[in-house]
Amino acid sequence: MFDVFARFYDLDTEGLNADLTFWLQLARRTGGPVLEVGCGTGRVLIPLAEAGFSVVGIDVSPAMLAVAREKVKARGLDERVDLVECNALDLNLGRTFPLVFMALNSFGHFAEPGEPERALERMRAHLEPGGLLALDLTNPTPGAFGETTGLLIHEYTRPGPCPGWQTVKLRSQWQSFVAQRIEVSCIYDEVSASGEIRRTLAPFALRYFYPQELRLLFERAGLVLEGMYGSYDLDPLDDDSDRLIPIGRNPVRGASSRDRRQRHA
Ligand SMILES: C[S@@+](CC[C@H](N)C(=O)[O-])C[C@H]1O[C@@H](n2cnc3c(N)ncnc32)[C@H](O)[C@@H]1O
Repeated sequence: MFDVFARFYDLDTEGLNADLTFWLQLARRTGGPVLEVGCGTGRVLIPLAEAGFSVVGIDVSPAMLAVAREKVKARGLDERVDLVECNALDLNLGRTFPLVFMALNSFGHFAEPGEPERALERMRAHLEPGGLLALDLTNPTPGAFGETTGLLIHEYTRPGPCPGWQTVKLRSQWQSFVAQRIEVSCIYDEVSASGEIRRTLAPFALRYFYPQELRLLFERAGLVLEGMYGSYDLDPLDDDSDRLIPIGRNPVRGASSRDRRQRHA
């Protein structure tokens, strides 16, 4: 399902880098190696490797990983990057990390009942004692997802991915308040200089989460919530925050709850 996006993902995220310093600082705080779940084409993973961290990236999409692999190779980062094709719901790498994270709403792809719980359980299983799990989600305030009544909007016109061609991206979204899902239909029209058009349709669903729900999900996964932040600068979450960034810690076995509280103070 995500393979269809691989061709366009770097166009979609062109210039999108507001989160990179945040992920780098978090990796500096925990040390590596770092596990990115849903690493896509390496938008975050590659800067982390360039900063010297050993990074494991897993993704369910072979096409996304193929783009990431090319970039890793072109930058000479093979030594520091390990890319693994797998579904996060079945994640079983047989090792643990001081930091596991999912960037840019990727946790919202666990859109079916039971999937968020399963994904958190799998990610916690890959955290070393004391390790951190961080997610970056949209804070679902009214209007946070833009137009969600099915209206077709023009998202961008950008050169590429074929040299000499332009891509026109159109997008239509429906919001289900009960299911807490945004149903997204993307249309990519690639247009050649002579006016030839190739159309690609790419639908997906994005689950969104409320802060108190995330609190319970983290607790149920056995994670101690260290903080819930509202921006990449770690501002406190409030009603105007754009981002919703929960960071949880895998408790150290044997530590008393008092010890744990002190460690997190
Ligand atoms: C929004 S992209 C994020 C890519 C990258 N982390 C970034 O920040 O640019 C979400 C990625 O999650 C991957 N993904 C979705 N569901 C997944 C699953 N169940 N297991 C592993 N990867 C998944 C998709 O293939 C896609 O590459």
